[in-house]
Amino acid sequence: MTTRPRKPGPNAPAPGKLTLPELGEMKRRSEKIVMVTAYDAPSARLADAAGADLILVGDSAAMVVLGHDSTVPATVDEMLVLTRAVTRGARRPLVIADMPFGSFQVSDETALVNAIRFVKEGDAEAVKVEGAGPTLSRVQALVGAGVPVMGHIGLTPQSATMLGGFKAQGRTAAKAGRLMADALALERAGCFAIVLEAVPAPVGDRITRALAIPTIGIGAGAATDGQVLVYHDLLGYQDGGPRFVKQYAKLGVEIRLALERYAEEVRSGAFPEERHTYSIPDEELELFEAELEDRSPEHH
Ligand code: KIV
Repeated sequence: MTTRPRKPGPNAPAPGKLTLPELGEMKRRSEKIVMVTAYDAPSARLADAAGADLILVGDSAAMVVLGHDSTVPATVDEMLVLTRAVTRGARRPLVIADMPFGSFQVSDETALVNAIRFVKEGDAEAVKVEGAGPTLSRVQALVGAGVPVMGHIGLTPQSATMLGGFKAQGRTAAKAGRLMADALALERAGCFAIVLEAVPAPVGDRITRALAIPTIGIGAGAATDGQVLVYHDLLGYQDGGPRFVKQYAKLGVEIRLALERYAEEVRSGAFPEERHTYSIPDEELELFEAELEDRSPEHH
């Protein structure tokens, strides 16, 4: 059994772990950054084996794992369980815990208390926070305490109601200008990278060129420094989803077919077969049956 080397602290990565300076280097070398979400250890192991650079334990878990209609109900305690599972499975990729709604909006202090839980209890290397404006002082507080922060602007699902629903952002000059200002402000506040969600490709391009830190796009065009997709979306757990999703598999169909075959075989008796069962030596079985015989009421 291999054990993960102990990690001395948020600023001292485990051996083999991608580092923040290496991430910055990837942007400078125009090497695309691969980010994917994951919510459990086996998925994190697979993402790691597939060469993902970053794993986001997204609050999208509220929707794709916990069955809610939005990301808003996700709690710190739920996200911590998922984060801990992912960090157990991921070796090289940097694991970023998404701070759920309510965990950083109230004050710098609560944001810091919760971010520290993600680092200490969740073993995350970094956290992600949505928005700019009041979020900027949260970023400064976390970075000041040694917790690396990823920003997230454009379509920010935690405030989807305020944004008029799950729709593209920055589609007027004024709104694109505001996104650019927010991105630059997040960079100044100390973010090591920024997610740009659902913004026009040229806006994603201009923001990416204006920033020294990497941008990770989801529905932000091909020019961002990296891309992120939700695990269940890219693996096709179900049909549909936003325009920016590309399905690389149809696992939903595969899983349902497998479950149907299993149910059918249990009902017909085709499963389990001999090779799925354990044996007992004949003489032991005879003894066992004799014992049962002795215990039977007719025997007394
Ligand atoms: O929660 C999430 O999965 C996210 C990504 C879509 C960026 O925030």
